[in-house]
Amino acid sequence: MNKKKREQFRGKIQEHVARFEKDGQFSLQRSFPHHKNVSVHEHVCHVAYVALKIAHTLRVKVDEDKLVRAALLHDYYLYNWHDDEDWHKWHGFRHPKFACDNAHRDFGLCEREKDAILKHMFPLTIVPPKHREGWIITLADKVCAFKECWFRNWSYETTK
Ligand SMILES: [Fe+2]
Ligand SMILES: [Fe+2]
Repeated sequence: MNKKKREQFRGKIQEHVARFEKDGQFSLQRSFPHHKNVSVHEHVCHVAYVALKIAHTLRVKVDEDKLVRAALLHDYYLYNWHDDEDWHKWHGFRHPKFACDNAHRDFGLCEREKDAILKHMFPLTIVPPKHREGWIITLADKVCAFKECWFRNWSYETTK
């Protein structure tokens, strides 16, 4: 992927992030830790970038804006999952529904975006995604979780 494409993808992600920060509680995610020293905010930006990169590299026809929106909102559950609280026990199974409900309330989602968010934990949650965007986000989420846990300081802002 050339430099121009990388810049274009980063620009697209930043545009959506700015809108979500202005209109919703997206920036709250900066204070919630996710994997190791990576916040939920950084994680969802990573997932959006890797999702765009996968679609581009494999030449999968997707709606890029829906792909980025769903990727950025896939973990919009808005709590610290490391806290020991009863209401978000079984986080792995339940957070896609919390994220989808919050995101729809704050930004309004289309069916394709909802499905991608609800199914992103597949195969842990048994039902697979219905659309290409959902499959790509599911894959990108796992790639990013691995990189965030095993590669120090990995970031979409510097990766090629
Ligand atoms: Fe998640
Ligand atoms: Fe995630």
